[in-house]
Amino acid sequence: MAIQLTWHGHSAFRLDIGDDAIWIDPFLSDNGVTSVSPTQVDADYILVTHGHGDHVGDTVQIAKRTGALVISNFEICNWLQSQGVERTHPQHIGGGFEHPFGYLKLTIAHHGCSLPDGSYGGAPAGLLLTADERRLYFAGDTGLFYDMRLTGEEGIDLAALPIGDNFTMGPDDAIRAVQLIAPRVVMPTHYDTFDVIRQDPTRWIERVEEETEAKGLLLEPEESYEV
Ligand code: NI
Ligand code: MN
Repeated sequence: MAIQLTWHGHSAFRLDIGDDAIWIDPFLSDNGVTSVSPTQVDADYILVTHGHGDHVGDTVQIAKRTGALVISNFEICNWLQSQGVERTHPQHIGGGFEHPFGYLKLTIAHHGCSLPDGSYGGAPAGLLLTADERRLYFAGDTGLFYDMRLTGEEGIDLAALPIGDNFTMGPDDAIRAVQLIAPRVVMPTHYDTFDVIRQDPTRWIERVEEETEAKGLLLEPEESYEV
């Protein structure tokens, strides 16, 4: 077994683990870079880091059509239920659960978390997933914080970190995050989708190789990588 990770631009990922299709922050129809349609994707699980529209994305539509189980924080799960999503599994910061696809823990993220209609969305999270003897860290939207080191202590095979600046860490702080987390492989996310988060990911990958011990991974939207 292996984990196939496919990036769909912004913070949207699909993980294929065994027979399970797992989406993370499926912002697909409005992100401008992926041709994948929320009306067609298959999904067994959807993981949502926080309530903002560019992360909740097409979750409601996909979950209703496919019956996928949505995993997020307690407040977002309640909101999804109010939107007609029937199957949710609430967790919260620091809490992990052994799902069929792997052990998922929600981690700290420093950011906002209101939902698209203004509802309270609790606290934003990162995702720490242990599956198939690999550990993946999706930081979500966050600024740099020193406790990333604690997550790194668990041993990270792949980290996905925002580099866009303005709403999240920018390139400089994301390099410092790589130094704190010390992942084996790191990839940049949350850039170029909007004008205010334009970055040079190729240059950032060069800096990863120069300034950290990690291997940089640059994916084009819809490109896959075997973790
Ligand atoms: Ni956000
Ligand atoms: Mn965002």
